[in-house]
Parts: sequence; structure tokens; C-alpha cells
Amino acid sequence: MIENEKIKKIPYGGDYNPEQWPEETWEEDMRLFKLAHIDIVTLNVFSWAALQSDDDTYHFEKLDKIMELVSRHGLKVCLATSTGAHPAWMARKHPDILRVESNGMKRKFGGRHNSCPNSPTYRKYAPALAAKLAQRYKEYDNIVSWHISNEYGGECYCENCEKKFREWLKDKYQTIEEVNRVWDTAFWGHTFYDFEDIVVPNQLSEHFDNDRTMFQGISLDYRRFNSESILNAYRLEYDAIHAVTPDIPITTNLMGTYQPLDYQMWAKYMDFVSWDNYPANDTPLEESAMRHDLMRGLKQGKPFALMEQTPSVTNWLPYNMLKRPGVMRLLSYQAVAHGADTVMFFQMKRSIGACEKYHGAVIDHAGHENTRVFREISALGAELEKLGSKTLGARCDAKAAIVFDWDNWWAISYSAGPSIYLDYCREIGRYYKALHNQNIPVDMISVEDDLSAYSLVIAPVLYMVKTGYDEKIRAYVQNGGRFLTTFFSGYVEEHDLVTIGGYPGRLRDILGIWVEEEDALPEDMHNSFTYQGKTYPATMLCDLLHTEGAEVLCTYEKDFYAGMPVLTKHAFGKGFGYYVATQSNEEFYRDYLQEICEEACIRPIMNTPDSIEVTRRVNDEGTFIFMLNHGDEVYEGALPFGGTDLLSGKEYAAGDKISLARKDVAILLLT
Ligand code: GLA
Ligand code: ZN
Repeated sequence: MIENEKIKKIPYGGDYNPEQWPEETWEEDMRLFKLAHIDIVTLNVFSWAALQSDDDTYHFEKLDKIMELVSRHGLKVCLATSTGAHPAWMARKHPDILRVESNGMKRKFGGRHNSCPNSPTYRKYAPALAAKLAQRYKEYDNIVSWHISNEYGGECYCENCEKKFREWLKDKYQTIEEVNRVWDTAFWGHTFYDFEDIVVPNQLSEHFDNDRTMFQGISLDYRRFNSESILNAYRLEYDAIHAVTPDIPITTNLMGTYQPLDYQMWAKYMDFVSWDNYPANDTPLEESAMRHDLMRGLKQGKPFALMEQTPSVTNWLPYNMLKRPGVMRLLSYQAVAHGADTVMFFQMKRSIGACEKYHGAVIDHAGHENTRVFREISALGAELEKLGSKTLGARCDAKAAIVFDWDNWWAISYSAGPSIYLDYCREIGRYYKALHNQNIPVDMISVEDDLSAYSLVIAPVLYMVKTGYDEKIRAYVQNGGRFLTTFFSGYVEEHDLVTIGGYPGRLRDILGIWVEEEDALPEDMHNSFTYQGKTYPATMLCDLLHTEGAEVLCTYEKDFYAGMPVLTKHAFGKGFGYYVATQSNEEFYRDYLQEICEEACIRPIMNTPDSIEVTRRVNDEGTFIFMLNHGDEVYEGALPFGGTDLLSGKEYAAGDKISLARKDVAILLLT
């Protein structure tokens, strides 16, 4: 639906499952949708069993009626292919569709997102259904998007996958000698003489629990293989649909920082990115912000779809607190502030059975419009109608970027040592938060993305430096860029083989340092360093490094490595390489990044307290400044720019005071 000319405003709606309800209730749903200003429904997400009753028999009559119903009521449709859960008969008749878990357990029918991506049955019937849906509904001009399957994920370790894994390896490495080299199988006498010797890495072989492995190279390749296998299954459906309706964009709903799938690779095969945002009650605002930015970055800054969020509660947290009044609206606009061009929910109507019956919905079990949640939804619907198309297509114009790489994430998680406290996303989050809290826009980029638009590129814990990436960074810095990285960076190349000669391997010349040792501290122990008159803790990991041309900005204060560098800065070509040798606290990241941003001429959009989030989007209509008050107090501050608040209609000149109530939002179109 993104960039679809049928869309004239932010689409507002979500997952609707009328097939779970008697037909006589449907008209009442339509009445309520209208009241709530709903204009889009995602249909047919879990109907495979209803649509196909055996190998050759399909039943579209009910879906026909549903399509007729919603179209008659002027609703746009995001049409799902239903392949997120296979039918029971299919599992009984074709057990190859059932997955095998990491512990070797073959699953029976049940749950969802349950098909083996390499199952011949799945690979035959899923695209066949997608093709039939496309054929049957292609004349509906209110279908604005296809939604393939649902929240793809997980792993399979079945025999089919094992066979395919061997083929994948043969294709990638050509010879068994090369496989032995990249996996360093001389270690522990693992030399493979034949591709047939290779088995899947799981708890029956290299893993000693789900995620800990004795052979990182093998497990890493299996992760890649698994992500690609599932992607290939998605692509079969994509191709089947695209052949019939080439003009309707196709997506699948992603899940933010979801580890098993390399979304940066997936996004290449999606017409637009869509994702499901389910922050817990205590999720800090910058964590959600980072996930939005990560999802926006998957397609180099193109707007994305917020495919799902709950209007009020989830059902799967230990305790499911209500979104407080105003929070659903606030979080909807937070998505838009970071690049969303839709606001959508799971779900439109609460089911009466199974595990999601207590999950929030537009239409509650009460069944009428007289609920707090419905009133809030309806009010936001009216507001989005008023906002119209203005913000659609707008881009966020960041000058700072943070590198996020799925391969690197996998490799760090699999690494045996240096510390179980090392968590890639959390380390990324520390840098993100420091920028975000200062209202400095950030792009989350992949290692394939171009760097030339950025004045500052931060790559926290860039443990894996793939062949060629160092050259990209080198050229970027030589041309005047600023590149910052941290401890546990540059250790390995793409196969998880160490680059010898001293860490950070291929990045050494850019940073002008070499790391000799790395000290992993227990949680209750820390070192310290003093920079610009302030003392900060050095926690978790402390590099013991030597300079090779870099300037030392400060040093450790304790232990046997007191006096060794913590922060270094290296003039390299026209730019600089910065190194942060340890983990520190929030204050440090804020102070240090503020300083580097000033050096790089990157300015905050405006200065506000942390609870006031400020972002910017730009399109042909102009520049939009989003101001979101996540706090519980009224915010008052002077605006450094003039503009019109598209939500309240108020006009401001530069220097005027703006007042935002708790959880309130302003979208200023700058004058
Ligand atoms: C996911 C799924 C939905 C639903 C919600 C519940 O996002 O896609 O089908 O299960 O979670 O939060
Ligand atoms: Zn399998």
C-alpha cells in the first residue's frame, strides 16, 4: 500500500477475521468500522484450512462473501495468503510439512508458523493457494496490498532441510575442501570427506542447548541457510502473486529486532516493509523508536507500514497492562514520526476462543461502541482523516547512522566468550539512545548501504567485518567521514575466522590502534576513566590496546592496565576514526556523542527533556516536525522554528512557546 496511488491518507484498520463469526454479525462490524473511521482491513490471515480441504479441493465462497461485504462498504483490503498455518489434514497426509526442532523432536500438527520451509508439500501448496487467490480476486481494485503468510520465523532441522543444507553448501563453497577451510574443521578433528558427512547443527550434533554451539562457522551458515530457506518459500508466493497482479505491492509483516531472519536480505524481495510493533508496558520509548528506524532502514529510508499494534492490551506478556488513555494515539504517531505511512491494529474484533481472546481489539467482547478503547480509536481515526495525505511518502533526513548487521548479530550471539553479558542489540541501543534523546535523527543502516550521505557512522561491536566492508569504511573516512566503533570489533571475517595480526583486524589502520587483550568483568566490578573532567565507569569488557597513530583521549584508572587508552581518535585521510574500548554508562554516551556530533556539525532538531521525542520527516509538501510528549507532565518549551500544528491547527512563530499535554502530540508543518 505504500506508494500506491489508491492511498490518499494514512490507512487505518487492521486484521479482521469475520470467518470466525456468524455472518449475521458482519453488518454490525461494518457499522462500527465506519464509526471508528476504519478504512482498511487485513483479511484472510489464517484461513488455509477453510480454503483448501484436500489436495485438489478449494472453497472460496466464504471469502467471496467477505470480499463483497468489505468492498461494498468502501474498505480497502490488505489480502493475506493464509499460509502462516497449514491445515490439519495436510499435516496428517503429508508429514514432510511438519518441522523438526533443535532437539530433534518432530512436531505434530498444532500452533502456527509451523511449516518446514523446504517441505515439498509446503512449497507446492502455499504458492498454489497464493496464485488461486490472486486469480480469483485480481479484479478488486480496493486490494491495496498482498500480505504473504504472517510473521515468518523459527527454524527447522528436518531431513529435507539437512539435504537442502548440503546443496546450499555445495553451491556456496563448491568443494568440500573449502567447507573444511571456512569452518576450520581441523579443530577437534571435524574434517569432512564428503558433503554427505555434514549434518544439521542442532542439539543432536554441535549445539549444547538451543543457541550455544561448538562450531560457530557451521551454526552461522545454518542460520543463513534457514533464513534464506524461509525467504525462498516467501518468494514462491511472491512470484505466484506478482505474475497475476504485478501492480499490487506485496509484503509480509516483520517483527523488528527478530534475530532468526536476516530482514536486510528479506527486504530486497519485499515491495515495502511492514512490521508489527508490540512494546511491553515498560519498553522505553527509544527502544520502540530504534525498531521503527531499523525497519525504515531496511529499504533505505522508504516509508514503512505499521501492520499491527494492539489498541489496548496484548495477551502474551506476564501481565498485560492497559495502554493508558492517550497512549495508543501517542504510539501510533510515534510510528508515523519514524516513517510509518499506515496505522494498523491487531485486531479488529476479539475472538471468543483460544489464546488471543483477551487480546485488545477495536471491537471488544462488549460488542458495541461504548468503550474507552473504541472512543480513542474513533477519535484517532477522525484525526487521521483530517491529516489526509500530507505526511505520506515523507523521508527522515538523518546525518548520523548506526550500522546494524544480522550476520554480526548471529556471530556475536554464537561466540563462546568473551562475556555472556554482551548483547548486540543492547550495545546498539546505548548509542541509539544517546542520539535519540538529543533529538538527533538516526538511520539504522546495513553493511551494504551507502555511507556518503552521513557525517557520522557508528558501528558498535562490529565483531564481523566482512570482506570489502573495511574498504568501504576506509574510503568513507578518507573522504572526510567520521567512523566510530567499539570493543569486540574487527575480530573475524564473514566465516567467523579470526583476522590475525591484532584486533580490530581489518579496521586497524583506520582507527590507528591495535588491541592486545580484552578483560571481561563480572557485573559487580568496573574500572573507570576520566574525560573532560568527568569520571565514567568502564564495564563489561575492557580492551587493552596500543596506539598506532591515534590520539589517546583518556585512559583506564585502575588495575594492571591503568594508563592504557580507553578513548582514541585517529585522523585518517580527511576524516576520523574513533574507538571506544569499553562499555560505559548513559551519561558517557550522551556526553561523548554530543561532542562528536558537534564536531561533525550534526545538530539536534531542538532541545527538549528526554520524555519529549522530536523527529523530522520531509516530502514535497514540506518539513514536518513531530513532537511527542511521552511523559506524564505538561511540556512547555520555546520553538526554534515556526509552523502550523496539523493536529490542533495552532500556528506558531519561531520563539513561540508550545504546550503539550501528557501523551499529546504535535505535527508541525514548518513555515
Ligand atoms: C502477532 C500476530 C498476530 C497476533 C498478534 C498478537 O503480531 O501476527 O496474528 O497473534 O501477534 O499480539
Ligand atoms: Zn525442514
